[in-house]
Amino acid sequence: MDKISVLISQEAIETRIQEMADRINRDYAGQKVHLIGILKGSVFFLCELAKRLTVPTTMDFMSVSSYGAGTEFQGRVKIVMDLSESIEGKHVILVEDIIDSGNTLAYLLPILKSRGPESLRLITLLDKPERREKEVPVEESGFVIPNAYVVGYGLDYGQKYRNLPYIGIVEVQKGENNG
Ligand code: IMP
Ligand code: MG
Repeated sequence: MDKISVLISQEAIETRIQEMADRINRDYAGQKVHLIGILKGSVFFLCELAKRLTVPTTMDFMSVSSYGAGTEFQGRVKIVMDLSESIEGKHVILVEDIIDSGNTLAYLLPILKSRGPESLRLITLLDKPERREKEVPVEESGFVIPNAYVVGYGLDYGQKYRNLPYIGIVEVQKGENNG
């Protein structure tokens, strides 16, 4: 068992998501928004945000992965599953779980822009700016966090812990077999 300590409580997350939704409701009043979630991590955040939107909302998902099996980023990202609908002429909000190095979004944003959305905004639940390698234009971050590996609320550690209702820090136990 990994020891997980709470970094951000469920209550704090949901209070913050309400604030982020309030801002979208104000900024996009009289318009429609099209949310794009990057699977799988952003799903919990996207759902909680979408439930709090009062402007007409549609949503779509895509799945991306870094090329190669290594842990080092190799400069390329692969679209594993693309969007199911065109984003042309839409007010798109790209909803991310966490921005770490920025490599994924530095690759993805120009691709989405080239598809002709009316507008494109990036928001993220978590932001680890200390780790940034590529600059990305984040309109709003839920929480700026220190450089630690976090899980929960959609984020995984070896595909585990996505379902935790809070954000926690995994303390990897030394000399213990994981699993
Ligand atoms: P980036 O391209 O380095 O910004 O990384 C983006 C992706 O790496 C995120 O969407 C997450 O899937 C994953 N990631 C980065 N940091 C963490 C973390 O602390 N916990 C879980 N996943 C993370
Ligand atoms: Mg992600």
